[in-house]
Amino acid sequence: MLRAGSSENVDVTTVRLSEVLSALSFVLDMVEGQPEGHVLRSCFIGMTIAERLQLSEEQRSALFYALLLKDAGCSSNAWKVTALFGADDFDVKKNVKTVNWSRLPRALRYVARTVSPDAAAWARARRFFAVGLEGPKAARELVKIRCERGAEISRQMGFPEETAAAIRNLDEHWNGAGHPDGLRGEEIPLLARICGLAQTVEVFYTAFGPVRAEEIARARRKEWFDPTLVDVFLVEARAGRLWESLGEPDLARSVSLMEPADRILVATSEWLDLTAHAFARIIDAKSPFTYRHSEGVARAAAKMTEHMGLPASVVHDQTRAGLLHDIGKLAISNRILDKPGPLTDEEFAKVKQHPRLTYEVLRRVAPFRGIAEVAANHHEKLDGSGYQRGISAEDLNLSSRILAVADVFDALSQERPYRPAMPMEKVLMILKKESGQKLSSECVEALEDLVSKDEL
Ligand SMILES: [Fe+2]
Ligand SMILES: [Fe+2]
Repeated sequence: MLRAGSSENVDVTTVRLSEVLSALSFVLDMVEGQPEGHVLRSCFIGMTIAERLQLSEEQRSALFYALLLKDAGCSSNAWKVTALFGADDFDVKKNVKTVNWSRLPRALRYVARTVSPDAAAWARARRFFAVGLEGPKAARELVKIRCERGAEISRQMGFPEETAAAIRNLDEHWNGAGHPDGLRGEEIPLLARICGLAQTVEVFYTAFGPVRAEEIARARRKEWFDPTLVDVFLVEARAGRLWESLGEPDLARSVSLMEPADRILVATSEWLDLTAHAFARIIDAKSPFTYRHSEGVARAAAKMTEHMGLPASVVHDQTRAGLLHDIGKLAISNRILDKPGPLTDEEFAKVKQHPRLTYEVLRRVAPFRGIAEVAANHHEKLDGSGYQRGISAEDLNLSSRILAVADVFDALSQERPYRPAMPMEKVLMILKKESGQKLSSECVEALEDLVSKDEL
């Protein structure tokens, strides 16, 4: 019998939850169009300010996870960004944090540079006026979607309300001109004020260096930022080892050590499941056409694995692999993901890269290392015609074969930009046509059996 994929032995009792979230935060950086390490550096800056303010352990713990998850809602507005600007969501998001939306002429100049990069001049002009008209309202809406979604994810993971509120309000400004609610001064929760300052100075530090980061904090003191926090930050920036520390090779380790000692969260199996579900929601939110796809694949894969008599530990791994199999898709622009017509060769080449990225991301997360290969094999076919590696039957274990069938099953059952959702008979017909050649017949039969019993 074919061997099923198995977990590599990782002693989860020694892995901290923060290490898992830090490793996964690189994906969030990508979605935000930020250089790798943006979340980690923002976390280091924010926690440095919190230590200097002598916040309680409880507050620092809530802030720590707010900083690590601050961009958890980032994928949820990506498709709207693309729809509004007619441009790659990454390109728009990359620069949006350096633009002061409260100063309209500057914001419009930015919009003019960003919209519809490939379109004809008349189309660019039309888009320019549309974005210009909608600008302030649209910016508020985009921030609202992102912040509410991020806060909801932190709540669903079980973090305290302070963490959710910090994420919900991190784009509010001290002068009341921020988003989404226009809160002013101390109406904005303290932890949100710290997150907002930390993420902005990080963007300027990475893009233009420490001098510009300090300048922007000073320039937006009382405008965007709480003046007391700016003063604390500037003291740290000048006297402390802040900038030096940010350049250290193992920043993830330094960040992990900033978690309050009495409140260290260990990456238990429960936390890992919550994390996998949270990232599944982040992945699925990227495109309106992948709504609940990761959850659907996880459910189908787990049911099939169980039905085929594999042990509970493999069923558990298959659930996590299903939840995270498309994490690499977060690197694909919504201009490609949501395209209503056929993809060009170049666009399809980009799509084909996503399983490789899934593998690379999951290998970085020690407790998910064991599922990386199975998750990354979900587009491989028995006859070698799949992607990304083009491997064939002898290299595809039973777990990989199950996940591949579960992926096709869920994808066909859902609506896509280029076709409506398919009725179940048609889905099964397509699966049966590929059975034996491309997809494992044993797995397709298991799936059919479950569908006939109404269990899928
Ligand atoms: Fe995929
Ligand atoms: Fe998928």
